[in-house]
Amino acid sequence: MDRIRIRGGRPLHGDIVISGAKNAALPLMAAGLLTDDRLILSNVPQLADVKTMGSLLAQHGIAVEDATPDGRRLSLGGAITNTEAPYDIVRKMRASILVLGPLLARTGEARVSLPGGCAIGTRPVDLHLKGLEQMGAVFRLEAGYIHGSVAGGGKLAGAVIVLPFASVGATENLVMAAALADGRTVLSNAAREPEISDLCACLVAMGARIEGIGTDRLVIEGVPTLHGAEHSIIPDRIETGTYACATAATGGEVRLIGARLDHLGAVARILRDTGVDVDEDEQGVMVRRLSGLRGVDVMTEPYPGFPTDMQAQFMVLMSVADGAAMVTETIFENRFMHVQELNRMGARINVHGASAIVRGVSSLSGAPVMATDLRASVSLVLAGLAAAGVTVVNRVYHLDRGYEAVEQKLAACGADIERLAD
Ligand code: UD1
Repeated sequence: MDRIRIRGGRPLHGDIVISGAKNAALPLMAAGLLTDDRLILSNVPQLADVKTMGSLLAQHGIAVEDATPDGRRLSLGGAITNTEAPYDIVRKMRASILVLGPLLARTGEARVSLPGGCAIGTRPVDLHLKGLEQMGAVFRLEAGYIHGSVAGGGKLAGAVIVLPFASVGATENLVMAAALADGRTVLSNAAREPEISDLCACLVAMGARIEGIGTDRLVIEGVPTLHGAEHSIIPDRIETGTYACATAATGGEVRLIGARLDHLGAVARILRDTGVDVDEDEQGVMVRRLSGLRGVDVMTEPYPGFPTDMQAQFMVLMSVADGAAMVTETIFENRFMHVQELNRMGARINVHGASAIVRGVSSLSGAPVMATDLRASVSLVLAGLAAAGVTVVNRVYHLDRGYEAVEQKLAACGADIERLAD
């Protein structure tokens, strides 16, 4: 497995182009199952997870082709020939569960392996299944697979569904299923992440009837069929926040080209509270740190609250801030796996249940480190950039799942970073 070596202590200065959002691209690709027509997606990020979703769709009979040589424009099309999502693909990426709703809506059946993905807690899919059951699906679990069917091979029916928790994936699965169900679905306590609005915008372009986009109450009038469309994927707000933290942690100044300040939610406000300048200009978002960093408490919450996907990166920032900060994780259990590694680099972090107390230190020191999930991995890269000396981040395949060209983007801003092939 590749490793990344960083010689830290250099402030970042320059421009970073923000890629299309991974967490929008994956459900948008799954939406390709909702029609036999062509769905053209542009601003597609070049990531391992996108390739995995492409393999999964190919398995279902959907051809996923590059419409441009750089792979940033994908053309999806074809009829569903197979309704099984096999373990070998699903285990690589939890978002594979997003094919469940579309497959049931189109064919009345689906057989999907229970998902794997990041090792961050138990991450069940009960909310996806309960919502689809309310729409007429029946499930049984056998040999690690969820077998779903709609009575008599029939159609899903619209339903009134109240999600007990605003799950991103469940909202996406249910919206896609409802788009082709008979009648009206009202989805309350729906998640409001920008990636969900992006999915809804694409579904509307495909002929779906959805009201309340961007709110926690989505009303979907099912239509008999959807058609092809073209859609450009929103910029990745987590990649944006990650490079903003990298800039702040190293004391630099970076323009995040194509980034959208209005998608950052609580991240922009909290970064400003720490003493970092975050401004929008015509090209994107400017981030600069001119003075010291203050410790600020954060709690992860569904959008527009502070995202769990930014928790590890923010903790690095707090590790080199003045004073202490309490970081509380409310979305996932067991999402502090980066803490031990950060402490090996000289951070002073104590975990108490779902909260971590971070006491700022004057500097971190480089070390060999390893991470077990995507955001934890990138937090170690950030720590390496801020630390004195050499850091080697092992097992970077997690990073390649969600960050496009991370070492090139950082090197272009003056970071001393290189990938070491195994
Ligand atoms: C999505 C994102 C992920 C992000 C997360 C929370 C994608 C591809 N991934 O993941 O990067 O960290 O949102 O913002 O978009 N839960 C249940 N039952 C369910 C579904 C979820 O208990 O049926 C729990 C999960 O275990 C977790 C919490 O709800 O504790 C949040 O999960 P959810 O919002 O569904 O996240 P994902 O869609 O998996």
